[in-house]
Amino acid sequence: MSNPAAIDAPATTTSQTAISSWPDTPSLYRRLSDLVAQPMRPIRADAMPKILRWFDDKCGGSKRLAEQAKAVIPGGIQHNLAFNHPFALAISHAEGAHLTDVDGNRYIDFLQAGGPTLLGSNHPVIRQKVHALLDACGPVTGLLHEYEVKLAELVCKHMPGVDMLRLLGSGTEAVMGAVRLARTYTKKKWIIKIGGAYHGWSDQLVYGMRLPNTGRMEATGIPRGATGHTQECLPNDLEALRRKLQINRLRGGTAAVLLEPLGPESGTRPVHKNYNEQVRKLCDEFDTLLIFDEVVTGFRIGMGGAQSYFGVTPDITVLGKCLTGGYPMAGAIGGKRDIMMSLVGGIGTTSRRAFVGGTLTANPLSCVAGYYALQEAHRSNAAVVAGQAGDRLCRGLEEIIRRRRLPYVTYNMGSIVHLQTSGVLLLDTSSMWKLFKVRNEAKQRKHMMEEMGAAYTAHGLITLAGSRVYTSLADTDAVIDDALNRFDDVFALV
Ligand SMILES: Cc1ncc(COP(=O)(O)O)c(C=O)c1O
Repeated sequence: MSNPAAIDAPATTTSQTAISSWPDTPSLYRRLSDLVAQPMRPIRADAMPKILRWFDDKCGGSKRLAEQAKAVIPGGIQHNLAFNHPFALAISHAEGAHLTDVDGNRYIDFLQAGGPTLLGSNHPVIRQKVHALLDACGPVTGLLHEYEVKLAELVCKHMPGVDMLRLLGSGTEAVMGAVRLARTYTKKKWIIKIGGAYHGWSDQLVYGMRLPNTGRMEATGIPRGATGHTQECLPNDLEALRRKLQINRLRGGTAAVLLEPLGPESGTRPVHKNYNEQVRKLCDEFDTLLIFDEVVTGFRIGMGGAQSYFGVTPDITVLGKCLTGGYPMAGAIGGKRDIMMSLVGGIGTTSRRAFVGGTLTANPLSCVAGYYALQEAHRSNAAVVAGQAGDRLCRGLEEIIRRRRLPYVTYNMGSIVHLQTSGVLLLDTSSMWKLFKVRNEAKQRKHMMEEMGAAYTAHGLITLAGSRVYTSLADTDAVIDDALNRFDDVFALV
């Protein structure tokens, strides 16, 4: 248990970075393409029924609730990360590195709610501060609150690219606002994203999602016009990016290049180490803004985000997840002062501005949670500690994979650990023909990923969609070693 008084102690300083070493990307891409070039290695057909039986035997309460949910909730789940194979698990307790479901089964939590709980779940210091705030003023007043300013000051102090901060409701909203801000400021219209990246579900960005080069494949319910000025480039392809910037210059110009700094899907397709720096140069050459989507990397890769790690300062930074320590309403746009002034709020404002807002935006509850979560992350050096847990986990997984002669690939960027077993997100979609060819295979590989996820769960491990693992400050060596034994048991079933 953390000591609540610790929050006021001076911050530790460290020269260590959360990412101890950047993956050797050329060799990693070779290993990933080897993985998808060979037949899948799923859980054995004789082992899978036993895994599914475990859910029936041990998770009766979850199963009943999941059935009940299906009657009133489309598909029975609300959250796009909620694990639902063979059915959704209902969690009743969360603390530190562990989750407990309604049937009393205990799991190591490597989902971390999709990323925000870098300190571990339900951190006592943050909870106490939130309780005190609720006692004082409740969750929302609609007027200015001290913690709104304190949180903004803290973020501005640590993030090199953030002089000012505008809080919003979610990462999706913040990306949407950042794009509008870039267009307002530059008076240009094109947005170039990197194929395969996830930037939330706004109309203009459900484009080239998950798999690069897939354009509007998932844009159901979105009119063509909404994505009409969105473009995508393959990750790491600087020449293609230059060509797009050149062509766009002749037809109104590019407002912004928008990217996830580790690479699409939190580094599922990792960028080469100097990629961000090269994109920065291209943006400067073409007078285009650079937007870093640091919804995942913000504070998880250190207090200064991926921008500090790479030493590349974006014009606009999008934040979410860790920003409010797992409490609701995590989203913000940060950036250089002159750009941010196009987001001036208030009813009396008459200057040209990009309209953003929200009834519950910047509520005191989110702000106090964010302020103390970030203070605690800084004090405890959470990104580095969680990164070391990620290193330990990744090294252990590599050893198991090698020993069992499996084709799987694992690598990590600090506390973001990728474990590619099915390789579904790495299929080659770089041309229309290749995309057409892999459509069927993608379905099978996705199913394998679901089965792996179910097998991990039945062995007490909750992962993100069966292919990603987030470590946290709460992951001691003992927790990681326990997890490795469980992964070993799963891989014995392949
Ligand atoms: C890189 C990135 N950007 C944006 C978002 C959207 O954030 P939210 O789910 O808060 O809308 C996500 C969510 O996973 C993300 O990973």
